[in-house]
Amino acid sequence: MSEFIKAGVIGHPITHSKSPLIHNYWIKAYGLQGSYEAIDIPPDDLEGGVKRLIDEGYTGFNVTVPHKETALSLCDKVEHNAQAISAVNTVVIEDGKLHGLNTDGFGFLNNIWDTAPDFEFEKKRAVVLGAGGAARAIISGLIGEEIGQIILINRTREKAEKIKDEMGFSSDLIIVGTWELRHQILEGADLLINTTSLGMEGQPALDIDFGALPKKALVNDIVYAPLQTDLLKAAQENGNVAITGIGMLIHQARPAFKEWFGLLPDVTDELRSLVLK
Ligand code: ATR
Repeated sequence: MSEFIKAGVIGHPITHSKSPLIHNYWIKAYGLQGSYEAIDIPPDDLEGGVKRLIDEGYTGFNVTVPHKETALSLCDKVEHNAQAISAVNTVVIEDGKLHGLNTDGFGFLNNIWDTAPDFEFEKKRAVVLGAGGAARAIISGLIGEEIGQIILINRTREKAEKIKDEMGFSSDLIIVGTWELRHQILEGADLLINTTSLGMEGQPALDIDFGALPKKALVNDIVYAPLQTDLLKAAQENGNVAITGIGMLIHQARPAFKEWFGLLPDVTDELRSLVLK
């Protein structure tokens, strides 16, 4: 009989996480022996909570808000990509040791390729709005695909400058722009990505004028509630390809699942609709 694999997602709060739904769908779909649970661990108990998972024989876990940065410091080994992002979203437990990874960049890239399979990032110009953890992961994904230039714009400029400094890239690969100039900066862009919380349910809309954006540019919103944000509707009206954020959430789960269960699962329409319910 094959080994029963225990995995889960740690966060605080954790009740809204879609990860149990995604991983348990795959466990069932592939007929595997295993479980994936939502595990609430408050910030002041992170070390103890992780130790319990090791003691209980977990194979690994995902990490979500607010532990992504602190979990990195608990890892015995951290892959280069997670190091660059300064956050882990996936941990593999091997002989009681923690190996930290970050699969958000993979999730971002594969979500783009789901809609635009032929899109090549090499030498292209991307405009990234926002400078939180998601922006870091996306920048890492873009750089891995040899993007030509990233224009990074955030309301609080210092946070964008900090990403540029901390991620240690050459001065012309990332250019920090001014939030107020976000409309003009779209000129010549091949890709626009919103990583801010603007446009999310209960948040103000993202105010941006598409006048300067080339029609061939892709527009991606990582917000997925609502799925069709005002930004994506405006992009479609402008003639741009609009890419929703839900696929990033599903795709980022695939390499984590592979680490623990040994196979890279597929994203099906059925899974997409379950996640959107
Ligand atoms: P995550 O880690 O999930 O990517 P986060 O750290 O909460 O997200 O960051 C949210 C992003 O939305 C930030 O870039 C934030 O800008 P600031 O760094 O200036 O706070 C951006 N954001 C949130 N509300 C905003 C608003 N009203 N106008 C412009 N940007 C906003």
